[in-house]
Amino acid sequence: MQLSRRRLLAGSAGTAALSLAGCSADGDSADLAGFVGIALPGITGRWEIEGNHLERLIKDAGMPEPKLEYGEEDVDTQISQIESMIRDGVEFLVIAAIDSSSLGPVLADAKDQGVTIIAYDRLIRDTPDVDYYLSFDNYQVGVLQAEHIIESLDISNETGPFHVELFSGDPEDNNAELFFLGSVDTLERFIYDGKVRIRSGQTEQSTTAIDGWVLENSVDRMEDLLDEFYPEHDLDAVLSPADLFSRAIVEVLVDHGFDPGSDSFPVVTGQDANVESVKDIRDGTGQAQTVFKDTRELAEATMRMLTDLTEGREPEINDRGSYDNGFKFVPAYLLEPVQVDGSNWEQVLVESDYFTMEEIDEAA
Ligand code: GAL
Repeated sequence: MQLSRRRLLAGSAGTAALSLAGCSADGDSADLAGFVGIALPGITGRWEIEGNHLERLIKDAGMPEPKLEYGEEDVDTQISQIESMIRDGVEFLVIAAIDSSSLGPVLADAKDQGVTIIAYDRLIRDTPDVDYYLSFDNYQVGVLQAEHIIESLDISNETGPFHVELFSGDPEDNNAELFFLGSVDTLERFIYDGKVRIRSGQTEQSTTAIDGWVLENSVDRMEDLLDEFYPEHDLDAVLSPADLFSRAIVEVLVDHGFDPGSDSFPVVTGQDANVESVKDIRDGTGQAQTVFKDTRELAEATMRMLTDLTEGREPEINDRGSYDNGFKFVPAYLLEPVQVDGSNWEQVLVESDYFTMEEIDEAA
């Protein structure tokens, strides 16, 4: 197997892949050549759209029907799904990890079978066995969220102080740390000079994290923050890392008497351009910003990488030095996230055919 791995690294992926597919437990090599297993975290938010899109692109390219699984946001479920893909003889694994650091043993098994492993959206950490990483510039996502808060409140020019509270995502998702770092680095100078105040004192990833990206926990935390620190309703912004939480946070704010139509409604950020959030942004009725990560482009970049690998070409990489997974810098292909707010949602999301106006109208 080592020989095959070396051949893969030497750029003869196509040939190596065919011979490796022949080693698989069941099925014949011709049927399995290019067989892809896709493991996504759960059917919430963006993931289902992406799963369907990836599946379609792979089928349209004439590759074998991929195996697509959603991990129900449960690490053990995701590991057994990957084990089963390995047993089925996958040649490529495309994985958005639920827990970035728990896949070492299962990926070692995959490597022993000659599988090429692509970390999708989330870096897979603490294993030498990840070959490539495909994602958006996750740090930049956090920068864009913080910049929106700074610009909306005109923090650079006003004297403040502005009261802001921070949320971060699941600490087991490598992206959560990067989003948070990007945001905190951007807000930091205003926190130091006292223009931005975080009354709760919760400024660390550990104190702002929502384990497992569990929506209800973001609701509970927002309620606690408001009850304890903002009885006077003097909260100016909530840094929410993803739309998943943002709309829930808006609801809590409204329940606590903040008026979503008024200028004093806190600036709530987001990420993913979920259609319900886009509707809020369009109508000015709650969440004010999101970060658009064009998942069509991510799926297409994945497809290009799979095609390059099956045809024996070195895939396109545009970052070799940012994503240290604890073992190595994983060669990455990163896409740019896009700032979306009241001024450009139509241009970015409707004119690019990501959503039709009807879809936004119909969003609940
Ligand atoms: C992140 C992902 C985001 C968001 C979040 C919650 O890893 O990059 O786009 O969806 O998970 O699922």
